[in-house]
Parts: sequence; structure tokens; C-alpha cells
Amino acid sequence: MSKKATFLPMNLSLAPFLLVLLYHLLSCVAVHGVQEKKILSLHNNIWSPRKSYEAPSSCFSHNLGKGRESSTTLKMKHRELCSGKTIDWGKKLRRALTLDNLRVQSLQLRIKAMSSTTTESISEAQIPLTSGMTLQTLNYIVTVDLGGRNMTLIVDTGSDLTWVQCQPCKSCYNQEGPLYDPSVSSSYKTVFCNSSTCQDLVAATGNSGLCGGDNGVDKTTCDYVVSYGDGSYTRGNLGSESIQLGDTKVESFVFGCGRSNKGLFGGASGLMGLGRSSVSLVSQTLKNFNGVFSYCLPSLEDGASGSLSFGEDSSVYKNTTSVSYTPLVQNPQLSSFYVLNLTGASIGGVDLESSSFGGGILIDSGTVITRLPPSIYKAVKTEFLKQFSGFPSAPSYSILDTCFNLTSYEDVSIPTIKMIFQGNAELEVDVTGVFYFVKPDASLVCLALASLSYENDVGILGNYQQKNQRVIYDTKQEKLGIAGENCSF
Ligand SMILES: *[C@@H]1O[C@H](CO)[C@@H](O)[C@H](O)[C@H]1NC(C)=O
Ligand SMILES: *[C@@H]1O[C@H](CO)[C@@H](O)[C@H](O)[C@H]1NC(C)=O
Ligand SMILES: *[C@@H]1O[C@H](CO)[C@@H](O)[C@H](O)[C@H]1NC(C)=O
Ligand SMILES: *[C@@H]1O[C@H](CO)[C@@H](O)[C@H](O)[C@H]1NC(C)=O
Ligand SMILES: *[C@@H]1O[C@H](CO)[C@@H](O)[C@H](O)[C@H]1NC(C)=O
Repeated sequence: MSKKATFLPMNLSLAPFLLVLLYHLLSCVAVHGVQEKKILSLHNNIWSPRKSYEAPSSCFSHNLGKGRESSTTLKMKHRELCSGKTIDWGKKLRRALTLDNLRVQSLQLRIKAMSSTTTESISEAQIPLTSGMTLQTLNYIVTVDLGGRNMTLIVDTGSDLTWVQCQPCKSCYNQEGPLYDPSVSSSYKTVFCNSSTCQDLVAATGNSGLCGGDNGVDKTTCDYVVSYGDGSYTRGNLGSESIQLGDTKVESFVFGCGRSNKGLFGGASGLMGLGRSSVSLVSQTLKNFNGVFSYCLPSLEDGASGSLSFGEDSSVYKNTTSVSYTPLVQNPQLSSFYVLNLTGASIGGVDLESSSFGGGILIDSGTVITRLPPSIYKAVKTEFLKQFSGFPSAPSYSILDTCFNLTSYEDVSIPTIKMIFQGNAELEVDVTGVFYFVKPDASLVCLALASLSYENDVGILGNYQQKNQRVIYDTKQEKLGIAGENCSF
């Protein structure tokens, strides 16, 4: 299969294991009669007790990316693989579900607040103020050069302001590598609180910029606060600095110099905001990249790297199927999100029926499990159980209610899941995106999709189902492209 050729192992200690996994994943893809199925190997995951896997001591700041004139590509890693510690996978995988649920609850509250017709301002205590939300579940990181120093940032399409932890710091969490220090950078400039950038902050963060005076910085600075649904926050002042994304240098990039930051950011220096408001990295680099970026999210079980690309040069994509496009839905009430129109779905080649198709669904790099309106979820579950029959069932876990005990199986043949978007754009969920391993020994493996509480809640396309796809955000032409890709860098 030609698929093999595009998949380049990046870490020698992983190579033998990857080859075995590859063999299993790729050589076994098959179509049986009418029902389309794929083979999943249950005990070749990084977290399987039957495998020995050693986490790399670090994957920070090794590769700053590559590019050409109008485009650039950054290496993207799964954050879990960078801790350098022995990982208790069972605990990690289960905790991730709890956190994911918090993020989604916060997103739904925020959406309800934005869609409510009252013009009354929303109390800070009740409503999470921005979309970044529970950052613990934001799993993908890239390294960029900010003012001459390498910074590792969590990638988030659901929020706007890019920030890093900054010296002097009042309260910072532990990060790998030194904090950014504006006092030793000749290209750092303060953003004043009388500037329009400062005034625009309210759209990006839910909080208006304030004239500073905290932490020994003078009163003309623009202070920002980004608070998240779970109690995490970053607080500091806006600055501008040159940022280098791969080969492309962008001068006077506005970012948050975080003097007080709290949350489980996993050793990262900060966060890269790829949302839609004027302060987001996408908007600030419009001249360089024309509002286009794309990513390939690697699957954790492969231990592979993915990539984050800026610009329109499609020759950097390693797509294995052709790119299909769907319009980005214009919804003024969800203006800071990327929204798609989910028009259908199929399980093992069987099309599903639901009156809830044709509604908007957010695409988010920070939510893990895809959430579907109850009627669509029910149709998916019913057809999946019909085709994936004869396997011992297991109790529900957290938000996941279609579970199996598969310990005694080596490989299972699972129905393919496809989601169809307006314009017939198609996402075929990767074989690693169908089941979530609640227990690493496969004794509790669940369909990695969940139901929303209410039919009119807004669906979310999570990162688990976006793995091994090239997802292209074109904010200029208001469209999103999807193609299959085996992520590599
Ligand atoms: C940043 O990373 C690049 C690529 O690995 C390396 O060449 C460079 O020395 C690093 N810069 C600093 C300041 O550490
Ligand atoms: C904003 O404040 C700075 C610092 O006090 C000042 O130098 C600048 O002239 C002001 N700009 C405007 C547009 O008022
Ligand atoms: C990748 O996508 C482009 C654009 O749709 C297409 O022309 C090309 O054939 C695709 N590559 C593969 C291997 O399908
Ligand atoms: C989604 O697409 C369908 C079919 O093209 C259309 O009827 C419907 O109005 C669209 N929904 C939204 C939210 O744009
Ligand atoms: C799962 O199945 C295996 C054998 O099929 C059995 O030994 C084990 O007890 C089951 N585990 C759970 C948690 O039910």
C-alpha cells in the first residue's frame, strides 16, 4: 500500500513498535461485502500493558518547522508524550474524559449565553468567559520562536489570544524551559491601553482590556484576563514581539505576556489562539498566510508527530484521499467558532436518518470526544451495535455508553464511521478514532462518541475523530477542507 511510504517515524526508540503497528493498521484495512469495516489491533497501543513503551524525556523545541515563501509547517506533538514520566495510562485516559465533559459543559453554557436575546451582561460567576475552557484537554503542542526564544504552545482553535508565561512572574505554573523575558528583548514593545488592539480584546476574551498598573508595570499598559470554565486563567499585559513560525517571521505580533497563570498546561510555555477574532494568530498573519491554516492531528496510540501548516501551499499536505470542502456556516451568535453543517452520517456504509441533520456543528481542536444531538447519536449507536455484534458488552463509563470488554481479542473488525457535511464533504473517521480505551487492557473499550443532553444543544466535532486527517481552515473563502492523511512531519 502506498500509505506506508508517507509515514515517517520521527523517534528511533519508537520505530520498531511503529512498524509493527503500521503493519497491523494498514495491511488489514478491508471491505467485507456491503458493510465497510476496518481492522483495529487492540493491544498495539502505546498504553497497552502488553507493550513496553518508554516516553521520550522531552519533545520540546527540537524542530522549529520548515517552509517556503508563503507557507510554513510546524511539527505538532501530542502533549502526553512530552512529560518524560512514566504514565499511568488508565488514570490518564479516564481523567481526560472527565475534563472533556467540563469543557463541553462550559462551551454549551457560553453558546447559550451568546444566543440569548437579552442584552443584559452576563455575570462572570455564572458563565465561562472564553472558549479556551478546560485547557487540560488541549492535547496538541507546537514550538515557535518568540523574540529569539523557543516557546512551546498548546494549539487551540477554540480561543483567540496567544499568550506565554512572562518575567517577572507573579504566579506561574512549572514549564519546561525558561520564561519569556521582555526586558532582554529589543523587539518587545508594550501595547498601550489607549490602543484599538486593547479595545478589541473584549471580543476575543470576553473581558475588556484595562489600563494597567499591576506587577510593577506602568499604568499605560493594556491588561488582559482570560478566564476558563474550570478555574484556569491567564492574566497579564499585552505586548508585541517578533514571532517566527517555521521559516516565516512576523513582526509586531500581539500576544499576552502572562504574569499570573494557573492551570494544568503540562509544561507548555503558553497557548496559541487560532480562533476567528482580530487578535487571533490567524487574523494577525493574514498578510503572510492569507487566512489559511491546516493541521494533521496525530493519534496518541501511534506516538507519531503531526503538523500545523500556515498558508495556501497544498503541496505540504500528505493527503491520501482528495480534499473535499464544506462551507463554514455563518452564524453571528457563534462568530468566534468554526461551524460546519452536518448533513448526514453512515456506519459501515449504511446511511443514517435523522431530522437533526442539517444543523450546525462546531469543529474544535480542544474537545476530545465528538458530541452529537441525541437523535443522531441514537441512530449511530443502534446501527453500530447492529453491525458490531457478538462482542461482550461492558458497562457505560462517564459520557460513553456503548462499551465492550475486548481483552480476549487481538484484532477486531469495526464498521467505518463517516460524517457528511454540506457540499458532500466527507470525514471518514480513522480506525484509531472509533473506540476510546477507558481501560488500557481493552477490558473497557467504548464507542468514542457521545450524546448531547438536548436536541438543540450545538454538536461538537472533537479531536479524537479528527485524527489522521488533513483539516484545512480557509477563513478567506469561508470553507473547510477534509482529506485522509497519515500524520507525519
Ligand atoms: C530553538 O530551536 C532550534 C531548533 O532546534 C535550535 O536550533 C535553536 O538553537 C533553539 N534556540 C534557542 C534559543 O534555544
Ligand atoms: C497612548 O498612550 C501612550 C502612552 O501614554 C502615548 O504615548 C500615546 O500618544 C497615546 N496614544 C493615543 C492615540 O492617545
Ligand atoms: C490530495 O488532495 C489534492 C487536492 O484535492 C488532490 O489533487 C490529490 O490527488 C490528493 N492526493 C491523493 C494521494 O489523493
Ligand atoms: C445545511 O445544508 C442543508 C442542505 O444543503 C440546508 O438545507 C440547511 O439549511 C443547511 N443548514 C445550515 C445551518 O446552514
Ligand atoms: C473481560 O473479559 C475477560 C475474558 O473474556 C474476563 O476474564 C474479564 O474478567 C473481563 N473483565 C471485566 C472487567 O469484565
